[in-house]
Amino acid sequence: MSTVAEFMPTAIAHLSRWKQQNRRIAALTAADFVIAQILDQAGVDLILVGDSLGMVTLGFANTLPVTLEMMVHHAQAVCRGVSRAIVVVDLPFLSYQASPEQALLAAGRMLKETTAQAVKLEGGYPEVVETIRRLVQVGIPVVGHLGLTPQSVHRLGYRQQGEDPVAAEQIRQQSQSLAAAGVSAIVLEHIPEHLAAELTRQLVIPTIGIGAGADCDGQILVTHDLIGLSAQQPPFAPKRLDLRGAIAQVVAEYCQEIHTPSE
Ligand code: KIV
Repeated sequence: MSTVAEFMPTAIAHLSRWKQQNRRIAALTAADFVIAQILDQAGVDLILVGDSLGMVTLGFANTLPVTLEMMVHHAQAVCRGVSRAIVVVDLPFLSYQASPEQALLAAGRMLKETTAQAVKLEGGYPEVVETIRRLVQVGIPVVGHLGLTPQSVHRLGYRQQGEDPVAAEQIRQQSQSLAAAGVSAIVLEHIPEHLAAELTRQLVIPTIGIGAGADCDGQILVTHDLIGLSAQQPPFAPKRLDLRGAIAQVVAEYCQEIHTPSE
């Protein structure tokens, strides 16, 4: 007979255990029930409801218009499809930067209204670190995000970060501050491979890389990029499937069939 424990999702604490065991973490994004269910059943360890959904699912030019309301809505759909993987949800732009109290209410809402186990916040400046410390203190697990942080697109663009020694040192120090504040893992996006490898060796918590080389403790991709659904492909994430092309072909064949007059 099945027990309740069998249907429990993997605990967020597994992330640090996996690092100790040198077990790599396979992570992908999801924004809806169907994709989440496929990823969960295929063995993905961590599913991120990333605010990139604003671009790949909702058609915005960047992630800035995404609201907390939208993230809760998509996170609820994803959580309905997941019975095993860890689910982490992004706090969107301006839902946590105003004050630790604002962040607490946003993150708390996410954990109360979905079955996600952690929230992800971008950046490593002292204000963000202070906010993360507060969330962790009240029992909200947090994943950090350094390097290319899309919510800062107007300041950083979508360029690789940490290339010069000063910028690399800033990322080093920010990663240590995030670890000290109690994050469960750090996403390293689009930074030089050697820097990501160095941080991975130094940190006791796992690094999850995207465009940061093969030496991170885990890898994450936007699922739409992986399966070829995105309109624009990032340089570090080649598609492994052309689902956009496959759908277009099937739909064109269907339309032709309907439009062709029968004899
Ligand atoms: O929003 C997102 O999908 C992300 C990943 C790129 C890590 O933050």
